[in-house]
Amino acid sequence: MSPIIKWTGSKRPIADKIHNLWPKTEVSNYIEPFVGGGSCLYDCKAEKIIASDVMPELIGFWNFVKSNPDKIISHYSSLWESYQKDRSIFLSTRERFNQCRDPLDLLFLSRTSINGLIRFNKSGNFNASLHHNRSGINPKKLKNIVADWSARVQKCEFLCSSYQDTVQFVDSKSQVFLDPPYIGSDGKMYSQGLNVEDFYKYLDTLNKIGCNWIVTFGEHDIPKELFLTKIELLQPSPFRKLQGNSRQAKETIFTNFRSQP
Ligand SMILES: C[S@@+](CC[C@H](N)C(=O)[O-])C[C@H]1O[C@@H](n2cnc3c(N)ncnc32)[C@H](O)[C@@H]1O
Repeated sequence: MSPIIKWTGSKRPIADKIHNLWPKTEVSNYIEPFVGGGSCLYDCKAEKIIASDVMPELIGFWNFVKSNPDKIISHYSSLWESYQKDRSIFLSTRERFNQCRDPLDLLFLSRTSINGLIRFNKSGNFNASLHHNRSGINPKKLKNIVADWSARVQKCEFLCSSYQDTVQFVDSKSQVFLDPPYIGSDGKMYSQGLNVEDFYKYLDTLNKIGCNWIVTFGEHDIPKELFLTKIELLQPSPFRKLQGNSRQAKETIFTNFRSQP
């Protein structure tokens, strides 16, 4: 799978592992309330899919992927052509994005920022810097990636909402995949961070409804009465390139059903 938009905290390296954990039972719908770059959506075969995120520009972008993929390519191509001659296009696009919030500018920024970093300041402005020696993906290559993703997300409904609002779509045959921002990443991503107590209450509500869920939770634990399986993985830290080291990060996966690692 090639990512369509680079996203900090992407679960692309472990998307297959997560996908293979789901029980082979009847599924009414698949719900992904922290969709980000959508790594786990790519192989989802459910008939009904709800993908949401609190960030409006990101949901705007996903709606372009679904309904207007050509517009993504034409917008990206024109920025990319100018950027090959003049790297200051990154700064002017970043400034325009912070004023106008065009989802298509967000894609260009994610493809040209340092290590594909998506980062916002406390006022909600995109502030990742330019990756000087990175030319950004060639639009011809991007075109195939966009076409592939567009075909795959036709059954998805993309919604801009907080994760708690998705509970209205959950029934006992739902699969819910939750990949919240890392605890301690407050102010770096778009949102104000995660209130863990609220998050545990949400998991408790899902347990009462009786659906299956998977949570990825960085290095953090979940109260043991809420889950049945815990799988610990080591993977390269998403921040290793920035820190200039090869630190490995622990990624913990929790499920509320019995699963084999
Ligand atoms: C770790 S990222 C998801 C990455 C995604 N799984 C991927 O592979 O690209 C977490 C996402 O949660 C979103 N988010 C943060 N707080 C949220 C909230 N309260 N409700 C819904 N989404 C939220 C962020 O905008 C971000 O896109």
